[in-house]
Amino acid sequence: MSALTLQNIDKVYGKTQVMHDVSLDIEQGEFVVFVGPSGCGKSTLLRMIAGLESISAGTLFIGDKKMNNVPASKRGIAMVFQSYALYPHMSVADNMGFSLSIAKTPKQEIKQRVAAAAEILQLTPYLNRLPKALSGGQRQRVAIGRAIVREPDVFLFDEPLSNLDAELRVSTRREIANLKASMPDTTMIYVTHDQVEAMTLADKIVVLRDGRVEQVGTPLELYDRPRNSFVGQFIGSPKMNIFGSGDLAVQNWPHHNTGIRPEHLEPATPKTAIVSGTLEFVEKLGEYSLAYLRTATGCEFTVKFDRSINHAIGKELHFKADHNNLHQFDSKTMLRVD
Ligand SMILES: Nc1ncnc2c1ncn2[C@@H]1O[C@H](COP(=O)(O)OP(=O)(O)O)[C@@H](O)[C@H]1O
Ligand SMILES: [Mg+2]
Repeated sequence: MSALTLQNIDKVYGKTQVMHDVSLDIEQGEFVVFVGPSGCGKSTLLRMIAGLESISAGTLFIGDKKMNNVPASKRGIAMVFQSYALYPHMSVADNMGFSLSIAKTPKQEIKQRVAAAAEILQLTPYLNRLPKALSGGQRQRVAIGRAIVREPDVFLFDEPLSNLDAELRVSTRREIANLKASMPDTTMIYVTHDQVEAMTLADKIVVLRDGRVEQVGTPLELYDRPRNSFVGQFIGSPKMNIFGSGDLAVQNWPHHNTGIRPEHLEPATPKTAIVSGTLEFVEKLGEYSLAYLRTATGCEFTVKFDRSINHAIGKELHFKADHNNLHQFDSKTMLRVD
């Protein structure tokens, strides 16, 4: 039995259908990331699981119980939002314990659960402070702590890092990874539009586009064998190059487009090259450089170089790629062919 099962879920707002036939199994203790571009339906799906949105069609099970009409407060779920409001006049401890005191949990138990959550989140030294005396990252941890104290079976996060600056995002991301390790039986669903967060945190990634599931798999499954060119280009950075058959030196696959990641193109001679292009622009990023090129047929592509790239703009360069690193997509359906 899965911890959470979605069967053929649709969501309709008025006349607009925003989720289409979403089916998914999530195991207990799994960390699942919903990823996709803005507007693809990540929050809507999460809110339907939480009980904050109705389910237009299909069935949601938590364990073996049908949950479609069970109120949010009875689903054993806690949710952490992107923008979190802490009570400014309450201490960290009171903010974290607030939902428990509303539920008339005994004071001693509140204290214990708050202390345990503070320990996991490294907030113990700050329990008596007011929110205004905390950094942005610490405040977000208090918001997570409020959810932990409820001891949910399922933990939902909706882009919890997107209001933090870049450095804090990286450190808070590590804390979320630690949180997952310290609560191995708690199922977690995490929504982000950031493929790096998805790759680094997920046991399982669900890629969404326009309200549909495009692919479900481990981070490396999606990187190695994307089901279609959308997933190929969404997972991995910089994004996968897609070449038409006429853009390549070999024409073995007339009805295919070929995907090659920027990190998989290597310098070659004109004879051994699979693709050639004119260098248009270089970005030096310290550890590596990105070269932006264009084939004679007009197709733009990117190549990841080590830092020593020293070619003049306008020069023609040649590249090869290992056969295992070529992704063939049908040029009509853009579905993976092999
Ligand atoms: N209350 C609503 N009424 C009508 N349309 C909505 C409502 N909420 C979300 N949508 C639409 O549903 C789609 C998915 O939105 P959302 O789940 O917020 O996407 P994401 O979280 O992936 O950015 C969008 O097209 C959005 O405009
Ligand atoms: Mg959203």
